[in-house]
Amino acid sequence: MLSEKLFKEASGLFPGGVNSPVRYYEPFPRFIKEGKGSGVIDADNGRYIDYCLGFGPMILGHGDHAVVKAVQEQAEKGFSFGAPGEPEVRLAEMIREAVPSVEMMRFTNSGTEATMHAIRLARHFTGRNLIVKIEGGFHGSHDYALDSIPSNRVGNTDQNITIEVPFNDVEAISDTFQRYGNKIAALILEPVLGNIGVVRPDPEFLRVSRKLTTESGSLLIFDEVITAFRFGYKGYQDLAGIKPDLTTMGKIIGGGLPVGLFGGREEIMKNVAPRGKLYQQGTFSGNPISMISGIATLTQLKMLDYGKPTNYTERLSKEIAGIMTDEGVNATVNQAGTMFTIFFSSGPVINYATAIKSDAGLFFRFFQEMLKNGIFMPKSQFEACFVSFAHGKEDYADTLEAVRKSVSVVAAAE
Ligand SMILES: Cc1ncc(COP(=O)(O)O)c(C=O)c1O
Repeated sequence: MLSEKLFKEASGLFPGGVNSPVRYYEPFPRFIKEGKGSGVIDADNGRYIDYCLGFGPMILGHGDHAVVKAVQEQAEKGFSFGAPGEPEVRLAEMIREAVPSVEMMRFTNSGTEATMHAIRLARHFTGRNLIVKIEGGFHGSHDYALDSIPSNRVGNTDQNITIEVPFNDVEAISDTFQRYGNKIAALILEPVLGNIGVVRPDPEFLRVSRKLTTESGSLLIFDEVITAFRFGYKGYQDLAGIKPDLTTMGKIIGGGLPVGLFGGREEIMKNVAPRGKLYQQGTFSGNPISMISGIATLTQLKMLDYGKPTNYTERLSKEIAGIMTDEGVNATVNQAGTMFTIFFSSGPVINYATAIKSDAGLFFRFFQEMLKNGIFMPKSQFEACFVSFAHGKEDYADTLEAVRKSVSVVAAAE
């Protein structure tokens, strides 16, 4: 198989043969050469219905005509100038109009950069060290967000450390702020967890998070890298009725091209260079191709009815749960908007501790069967599946058929 051959070549070039660990799986990942609408085609011409969708950005599906055309037109004009241009202004205006808490922003090239700089800014603005994150929450691959310790194991609070609390646990977050409130620069959280699988927030947990950060003079950072423009033409913050101090975005706002953003209250953002002292830069930040792709994507999203893909996801999740029950497999399907995760456990899954009870081995065997049956989804139990506006009736029926076949194979082997 060509994928296998490419993987062998890639293994000598990239650690583990991939440029991002979530892409790796045994015996070799499918190398994807093309995407159209709700589907992707691999190097060996295998066709799949895609629920990975680039890990989130491709909400319109692959190869959306208007986005491709806009990018082509911009490509003719130039890629990168190291100078400001109109596209970044236009995209920023659209984002601020849709998410008003983002009064001022800075584009970056990835979500990782966005959260890293949001955290640096929070420390700079507050003059404090501690960052609080959610256990199992993911904010990209930098040490501020990857190296975290449980809040009850904090030693020296003068260090730049990150502590973690369980999601949806009002008592734990209250206790953490009671103990360290005046040392906490920021609480960063994904309003809907997407990186241990999908977990909906308890609205009370978000409310308490806002109250505690305000009272202690800490900043509340909503990491909306996944959720911005995924639950409607807005941020999840609008649905939750919470105004964070800072917001990070990525994925959808670049329409599939590299992008990130951190932004929020002007009073805070004006501390970023050259207006303020916090140095932050990027050769490709705000590059016209990503900006144009984002504008073309948001322009369409503004006119689309999110009810259609949301309804698809809701119904699909319920039907999948029903199939699992019929096959006698312990499973919990969590769904929020156009995101869902099949957890192989009896649930409920409300935080990290309950997510990791799932049988990840069983999930992986299921994932491999799904691949054989023409479904491409994230390979890990602890990821979200995404549904796009391009998914339709045929995909729906084919997906359920694939689930039926795959579950019966893995259940028989148990
Ligand atoms: C919530 C969240 N924040 C940040 C990131 C990092 O974004 P990127 O992969 O663009 O660096 C991700 C990536 O999946 C994410 O899901």
